[in-house]
Amino acid sequence: MEQSSKSFTIPRCIPFLSRSHNSSVYFITTFATLVVLVLLQIEVLTSSVSTCSLSWPFFDQALHRDESSIHTELGRARSMLRDSVTFLPLKDLRFAKEPMSGHTWFMSSMNDTFEGDETQHLYFPSEASKGRLLCLSARDTSDGTKNSYALAWPEALPHDATLFPGLTFVSDTYYDHGNLWHGTSAILPFVSWHQRKECAVPDRWVLFHWGELRTSMGAWVHNLTNAAIGEVRIEDLRGHGGAGPACFEKAVVYRHNEGAMKKQRRRAVYDMMRCKARAYCGVTRATMDPKAIRMTLLLRLGSRSFKNESTVIRIFEKECAKVGGCVVKVAWGNNMTFCDQVKLMSETDILVSPHGCQLTNLFLLDKNSSVMEFYPKGWQELAGVGQYIYGWMANWAGMQHKGSWRDPHGEECPHADKLACFLFYKDAQIGHDEAHFAGWAAKVLGEVKETKSSEASSGSRHTDLAGSSIPCPCDM
Ligand SMILES: *[C@@H]1O[C@H](CO)[C@@H](O)[C@H](O)[C@H]1NC(C)=O
Ligand SMILES: *[C@@H]1O[C@H](CO)[C@@H](O)[C@H](O)[C@H]1NC(C)=O
Ligand SMILES: *[C@@H]1O[C@H](CO)[C@@H](O)[C@H](O)[C@H]1NC(C)=O
Ligand SMILES: *[C@@H]1O[C@H](CO)[C@@H](O)[C@H](O)[C@H]1NC(C)=O
Ligand SMILES: *[C@@H]1O[C@H](CO)[C@@H](O)[C@H](O)[C@H]1NC(C)=O
Repeated sequence: MEQSSKSFTIPRCIPFLSRSHNSSVYFITTFATLVVLVLLQIEVLTSSVSTCSLSWPFFDQALHRDESSIHTELGRARSMLRDSVTFLPLKDLRFAKEPMSGHTWFMSSMNDTFEGDETQHLYFPSEASKGRLLCLSARDTSDGTKNSYALAWPEALPHDATLFPGLTFVSDTYYDHGNLWHGTSAILPFVSWHQRKECAVPDRWVLFHWGELRTSMGAWVHNLTNAAIGEVRIEDLRGHGGAGPACFEKAVVYRHNEGAMKKQRRRAVYDMMRCKARAYCGVTRATMDPKAIRMTLLLRLGSRSFKNESTVIRIFEKECAKVGGCVVKVAWGNNMTFCDQVKLMSETDILVSPHGCQLTNLFLLDKNSSVMEFYPKGWQELAGVGQYIYGWMANWAGMQHKGSWRDPHGEECPHADKLACFLFYKDAQIGHDEAHFAGWAAKVLGEVKETKSSEASSGSRHTDLAGSSIPCPCDM
């Protein structure tokens, strides 16, 4: 009632008429314009009425000719629009020197859209694309310059094009969708999109590496994506309406991995992925002694494995045995399924592991769990910033990275070239330093014991720390 009475307060508008000369002029001009418009309208109406009567045969004929010529013209214009759709190489070699910066070498003519704390993206159709859809002619799996993209209005898609309805996720990564670390980096912005955009689930994924089409994800990455977003259907751009290009009703493109995503957003996305992964794998929290300390050695086979695994295991077991409630588990990432890894991480407070992609599992630990990392000789000097990724991830995901041990021993590099030397050291095995490992383990165990006891006495180890609040985002 109140609203309707408000909308009828017309009198309030009237006083301004008399307030100033300018306003009256304004009013009169507006009124005059309205009158002219109404008169025009009447004329149009009468003329169209007239054209329907047989008393105007000439005009009638002319109008019909106009109508059909308008149709012809429209058809011609549409055909010209179709013909003018321009395909550009998906991978632009002009930017090969800095393939990942700015608009990147993937769809290089398109500028990214930045939205709040999120990874920069491209969206089609949008204002930026002037309402045009994304079309891809991109079946080459080994040369991104042979694949191409174009923008086209839905009314004038290129000849032979197939329109794919619904939402398509397009991912290009400089690395790959197989490796746990790289694959997680590539899907992270899509998980965030899913969470922010009313839990939108894509109808399909189109994957690229350097503009080359990819038709699979690694099993672990595939499982994680299924868990976090919903069943992943990877489009191979074949078998849908012949050889023409594929155009997408709606498409979101990410080409920077995490890119500009801010830390708080990353943390929220890791929280959601942890929660979703645990639910997907049916991991329920067993009631356990809140003071228990669970240490897990997640080991590697071959590259970057410990030279003397049994001794390393023994050192950690010995330190663990000195702390009440401590248990050690030993596992190998290579022969565990995704869900085995999710479950193991949900049962771990201290993760002990060599540098390597199996450490990507660390975001699946309960929040504020601890990580201890090990490197072979040569990494510190030669590996660049990429060696710190698990420290960064621990920080983003809300874990405690308790530092690293770098093997000072190992063969000397026989090459002069830095890259050759890095490759020489990269996958070498890792030795051990019994005194150092024992002291370091004792320190971390002490810290975790203290945190756990204070949490146990204050009863503060809530679902927030566990990171498995049920239901997860997008389950509601
Ligand atoms: C992209 O940004 C650059 C630099 O701001 C600008 O010159 C260019 O016109 C933009 N391109 C498009 C397609 O908007
Ligand atoms: C590992 O170390 C133990 C004890 O130091 C030694 O007995 C064993 O031979 C070593 N194993 C290997 C494979 O080097
Ligand atoms: C996994 O691989 C490790 C190392 O080869 C082996 O010791 C372990 O028994 C394997 N575990 C299972 C469950 O197969
Ligand atoms: C999920 O992981 C399991 C075990 O590693 C694997 O067999 C399965 O193929 C994966 N699922 C997908 C969709 O990749
Ligand atoms: C996380 O752990 C550290 C040390 O293990 C402790 O000092 C800190 O209070 C813990 N933070 C929370 C939120 O429990």
